[in-house]
Amino acid sequence: MKHWNIALVPGDGIGPEVVAEGVKVLKKIEELDPSISFSFTEFPWGCQYYLDKGKMMADDGIEQLKEFDAIYLGAVGYPGVPDHISLWDLLLKIRKEFDQYVNIRPIKLLHPELTPLKNKGEKEIDFLVIRENSEGEYAGAGDWLFKGKPEEVVLQTGVFSRKGTERIIRYAYEEARKQKKTLTSISKANALNYSMVFWDEVFNEVGKEYPDVKTYSYLVDAASLYFVLQPERFEIVVTSNLFGDILTDLGAAITGGLGLAAGANINPEREFPSMFEPIHGSAPDIAGKGLANPLAAIWSVSQMMDHFGEPAWGSAILKTMKELLHHKSSLTPDLGGKASTDQLGNEFMKLLSNHAPAKVKSPS
Ligand code: NAD
Ligand code: IPM
Ligand code: MN
Repeated sequence: MKHWNIALVPGDGIGPEVVAEGVKVLKKIEELDPSISFSFTEFPWGCQYYLDKGKMMADDGIEQLKEFDAIYLGAVGYPGVPDHISLWDLLLKIRKEFDQYVNIRPIKLLHPELTPLKNKGEKEIDFLVIRENSEGEYAGAGDWLFKGKPEEVVLQTGVFSRKGTERIIRYAYEEARKQKKTLTSISKANALNYSMVFWDEVFNEVGKEYPDVKTYSYLVDAASLYFVLQPERFEIVVTSNLFGDILTDLGAAITGGLGLAAGANINPEREFPSMFEPIHGSAPDIAGKGLANPLAAIWSVSQMMDHFGEPAWGSAILKTMKELLHHKSSLTPDLGGKASTDQLGNEFMKLLSNHAPAKVKSPS
């Protein structure tokens, strides 16, 4: 029996609504597969916790999370608490403290009608963005000088260390080699004359060790254009923290929207837990109404199963998603359906056994 201990941080807004459906998937897997079990511990951290206690998480929150095999997070941030506080004291804190320096975000079209792009289908839109997740533009370094004075100056410094840059680029090369895919680096050395010049140099240097990997290098502005007009250019993409953030919302837009976009924050050395989450936020505009699409959160459960060394379950979840996407009436309004978050979730649970791995006898 394999057992995994999962920390749940549902967070704010639609976070708890979508995490509830992801947990149902994990419980269904447990039910269908006698070789797997999970335990769950929920943490009430987020903006309400902040309003009650003046902090986003318990003082020893990071210590508490250390013990888990994975963290499953919903979303963080809500009107009433400044975003730079809520995000830096919870989501970004976990990514940094646990050195989850690899952010894996699949841009994969699961149903032909979900893309707004003309003449592009599942074959053309199928790539992986590997986003640097520990430093760069998100180093949190800067200064605020002469606040409120006419000479006021604000600095926000990008930090690109040799270690941080090399390790993400190497990770991406390894992935490209393993998957026999091309690797595209997205940067901006024409304007960012320190950080991105360095990024490009490291990309080329490390590339010498991977002569078998075909590479491309694009400026981020042109890459944005290609995401929309020629997404088939991309197989594996490696990019910096901020560019990866922006480009993956664009990636979500060409594959069905934020309700379908998942991300894994990985600490490859497994020294600390990795974290799985939808890439969307707390969506205050639809929170509490049963309108949230839980499929992004469910896709991140698929990534969690891959991370646990259970890729057959990871792909079972994706296959179930694909099947469900053909049942328009079972989808949430963002995908043109009328179902609520939990109705979609319940439909998903019914279909999952159809795709259970061969090792599991489907009770159907
Ligand atoms: P958002 O991702 O919350 O919402 C953007 C748009 O997408 C909204 O119209 C929303 O209704 C829609 N949307 C998002 N997820 C959806 C889903 N599952 N189903 C259907 N529609 C969905 O981005 P925002 O409005 O810019 O940010 C809201 C808050 O969330 C802010 O506080 C922001 O800082 C925070 N945020 C957190 C995370 C995170 O925790 N990982 C990510 C992004 C934003
Ligand atoms: C994401 C989010 C976060 C990020 C924010 C909320 C700090 O947008 O996970 O994509 O920029 O990484
Ligand atoms: Mn984002």
